[in-house]
Amino acid sequence: MERIDKIISNHTHYTRKEIKKLISQKAVFVNGKMVERPECKYDETDISLKICGEEIEIKEHIYLLLNKPKGYVSATEAPDQKTVLDLVPDKYKYRSLFPAGRLDKDTTGLMLITDDGEFAHNILSPRKHVKKEYEVTIDIPVTLTMAEEFKSGVQLNDGECKTADLEITGEYTAKVTLTEGRYHQIKRMFGCFGAKVVELNRIRMGNLYLPEELGLGEIKEATESELQKIQERD
Ligand code: URA
Repeated sequence: MERIDKIISNHTHYTRKEIKKLISQKAVFVNGKMVERPECKYDETDISLKICGEEIEIKEHIYLLLNKPKGYVSATEAPDQKTVLDLVPDKYKYRSLFPAGRLDKDTTGLMLITDDGEFAHNILSPRKHVKKEYEVTIDIPVTLTMAEEFKSGVQLNDGECKTADLEITGEYTAKVTLTEGRYHQIKRMFGCFGAKVVELNRIRMGNLYLPEELGLGEIKEATESELQKIQERD
């Protein structure tokens, strides 16, 4: 059981002062009954809440899918730089959101932003083997040797990479699938062959492909089935 003022501040942008005022103005209803005082307690998981006649959705966690554009840092704060959280609509800003994993500032594509630490861990931990697939363009022709070495485990200065899949899609382009996410991993893997990554776009996490309707810079709430797919191993 939780105080109604706490429940409202957990799920809306209203301040405690505003909530007190709304309650005194008889504008807050739980399960169809007017709330009398901010101290009234309810079961947060099982109420229907209306404020000024508007239904407020009570959700334990938020899961947002972003098609990350270039120029945004994958962090919650970065002095003098734009972060992916700057792209989140204001109505979610009261949540303690963070990006689940990092894409470099110049990388585009699918990213999950959430306030669910356990879920994030489950899709990011290399031990969970959740695949991340990228479209890559490099500055020299992609070779079969690269594909073979990616498969057997490229040696980086912080250890050998897990087996990775490289599918050649053009002279300078490939699709690369990883089950881990080390710092600048794909750039460093190609760097071992003297290649520079010029474009990098994440198109899949788990079995969830970047939704077609999600334009660059756009965000949407993930559906149940999208959340399911993002956790799948194959
Ligand atoms: N590998 C990289 O080098 N950068 C990314 O953003 C993601 C994977």
